Parts: sequence; C-alpha cells; structure tokens
Amino acid sequence: MAYAAGVDVGSTQTKAVVINEHGEIVGRTIIDTGANVVTAAEKSFLAALEQGGIDEEQVGYVVGTGYGRYKVTFGDTQITEISCHARGAVHMFPDTRTVLDMGGQDTKAIRVQPNGEVVDFCMNDKCAAGTGRFLQSAAAALEIPLAELGVVALRAEKAVPISTTCTVFAESEVLSWLGKGKKIEEILLGVHRSIGTRSIGLLKRVGIQDQITFTGGVTRNQGMVTVLNEALGTTLNVSEESHYMGALGAALFAMDRIKSSREPVRTKEVTA
Ligand SMILES: Nc1ncnc2c1ncn2[C@@H]1O[C@H](COP(=O)(O)OP(=O)(O)OP(=O)(O)O)[C@@H](O)[C@H]1O
Ligand SMILES: [Mg+2]
Repeated sequence: MAYAAGVDVGSTQTKAVVINEHGEIVGRTIIDTGANVVTAAEKSFLAALEQGGIDEEQVGYVVGTGYGRYKVTFGDTQITEISCHARGAVHMFPDTRTVLDMGGQDTKAIRVQPNGEVVDFCMNDKCAAGTGRFLQSAAAALEIPLAELGVVALRAEKAVPISTTCTVFAESEVLSWLGKGKKIEEILLGVHRSIGTRSIGLLKRVGIQDQITFTGGVTRNQGMVTVLNEALGTTLNVSEESHYMGALGAALFAMDRIKSSREPVRTKEVTA
C-alpha cells in the first residue's frame, strides 16, 4: 500500500507529513518558509521522506495546503488550510467541534462537524495583531528566544495592558513599557492576553462548542495555551502534532484519494 503526504506551506513555516494507510505519521518536518517557497515545499517533503525511510516512488498522492499550496509543484492537488486543519484536528481528537489555528500570519476559528467537515470559519482581518507574528515582534523587542516567551509570561502575577492593535507598533509599545520600568514578564503576559482576547473574539463569531482543538505553531507556546485555557474556562486539546495539523489533514485527504482510486494516481516527479 502506498504512503500519502501533505505539505503545508505557511507564511512562516512549511510543514510536511507522510502517513501510512492507517493514518499514522511515519515522517514529519518543519522548516522556515523563507523567500523561496517552491524550494521550501520540496525540501520539507524530501526531509519528511528521509525521516520515515521512505522512497519518493512509494508515495501515491501529495496534497498541498497553506498560503503557498500552489507552490507545491510536485503536488497532485491543493486543498485549503481551513479544511486541512479541521480534518487533522478531528483525526487526532475525534470530539473536536471547534478548531483554533494560530499561525505566523493568520488566526482562524473553525467550527466542524463530527466527520471533520467545515461548518463555518472566521479569520483575523488584514492585520496580524492576534497571531504568531505579534509574538515574534515582542520576542525580538525583548531579546528573548521565541521558545521561552510563554514560560517567561507565566511567571507574572499581573499583566501590563497592551493596547496596540498593530504588529508594527507592538515592538515600540513593548519597549515603552520597559522604559517605564514594567517587568518583562508582566509585559509578556499582557501581550499573550491581548492575543488571547482577539482569538476568543474569532471563536465567538463561529460559535464555541466543546471540544476545542488548538492547532498551528503557536500551540508550542505554553503561555498562550495557559492564557486561552484560563479565559475560556476549559482545556484545549493540544498535542505534539498540533503544529503539523494542517499537513496531517492534507496527508489524510491524500490517503482518501489513494484509497478511492484503483489506478496509480501519481504522475509527476519532484525535480529537486
Ligand atoms: N518553538 C516555538 N515556540 C513558540 N512559538 C513557536 C515555536 N515555533 C513556532 N512558533 C510560533 O508559531 C508561528 C508559526 O506557526 P505556523 O507554522 O503554524 O505558521 P504558518 O502556517 O507559517 O502561518 P499562517 O498559517 O499564518 O500562514 C510563529 O510565528 C511562532 O509564533
Ligand atoms: Mg498555517
């Protein structure tokens, strides 16, 4: 039986997942998308194959997703990231009814049916103030590694109110609070709460139904997970796979195509 792959070319990071016929992940990778989107897609796919010890010829179908899905030149088809995050989330957490995907550029709230079909979705407007980019700006301003941002925020006992609604001004607001003598952790807790409030606004627009599954790269930020859990009064589903959820959903759609086709469906080859 062939393997299936999903490649999620996000605005910030590109994720590739290879699954077997049982829907189990056998290889997965993340790389920065960078300026050359086509290369990022190819590199992440080949690295996921290598990780799983799988030859390219063993992959029967590839689905591209994410903002750069049409740059997955070796892909057999493209599916939107909304559908892919929903599919991945319901696969990992079958009782999922609401999905919150926080990526680098966009935050999306998605309401799903038990079979993973999308009922409704809503995303942040043109501005990235409620997304990973905002966290990256704060990390840069405070010279704290992104991976430690959430842990530092959780040390605070109270939060500085962050008023800016624009990522471009996030850095200057953070620095101005620092100049006024506020503690780094209190500023960071404020940043996390500000992003959390915006995300919950999106969730409310689609209607919050338990269980809520959190996906995308910001799931790696424990501070964000905690702030959201506290504000929502529930425990979000988060797993090791959460950052890969869109790529996993794409791989699951790819496996559907393999299973529904008797003929070999893959015709194109990777050139790089
Ligand atoms: N180790 C980490 N610790 C904390 N945060 C992280 C870590 N790795 C990634 N992130 C966060 O995840 C974000 C990227 O997430 P993701 O890969 O889901 O975005 P994307 O799919 O490229 O973007 P989009 O979906 O908006 O196009 C970064 O902006 C960063 O805030
Ligand atoms: Mg994404």
